[in-house]
Amino acid sequence: MGKSIVVYYSFEGSTKRLAEKLSKELKCECLELKAIKEIKTRGFFKYVWGGRQAVMKKAPDLNPYELKLENYENIIIGTPVWAGTIAPPIRTFLKDENIKNKKIAFFCSHEGGKGKVFEKFRELIKESNSIITFKDIVKPLSDVDSTNNEIIKWGKELKKML
Ligand SMILES: Cc1cc2nc3c(=O)[nH]c(=O)nc-3n(C[C@H](O)[C@H](O)[C@H](O)COP(=O)(O)O)c2cc1C
Repeated sequence: MGKSIVVYYSFEGSTKRLAEKLSKELKCECLELKAIKEIKTRGFFKYVWGGRQAVMKKAPDLNPYELKLENYENIIIGTPVWAGTIAPPIRTFLKDENIKNKKIAFFCSHEGGKGKVFEKFRELIKESNSIITFKDIVKPLSDVDSTNNEIIKWGKELKKML
């Protein structure tokens, strides 16, 4: 298995937890993306703000991070589902980084409405890459133990594919 990294965005912590479990299982590095401007509210307005950003395909500026893509063969990308698609910081990442000739695995977390997130993600990946597998994790906020087990199980399967 070539060198892997898990790159993720998480607004409220669930995708972060899953990403960390996964990177532990894969014994690989983990990079959290953060948008410079994050909304402060955790109330209902977050759906309006974030949903609009996602639907309008916004790509907000990210806090600087260190990543040398040439060091990795496999990139595992994780995001919460926002309005049936990827979260905007992931869009920025895919836009800013020239990802080519990689094996890519994708996972997302959501509350039961994954929409067209896999298709939308696929559209943003250049052809020279191969997308190995997709995984969605449902209700990680309320089902901590079972979703932890699920991502670890996926990690074990992933190891054989990467
Ligand atoms: C702006 C916004 C939009 C969302 N849109 C959806 C959606 O379309 N479908 C869904 O099932 N869950 C949706 N959710 C719920 C999150 O996808 C879900 O809670 C996810 O696990 C959160 O991950 P996080 O804790 O890493 O941020 C949305 C949440 C936010 C904040």
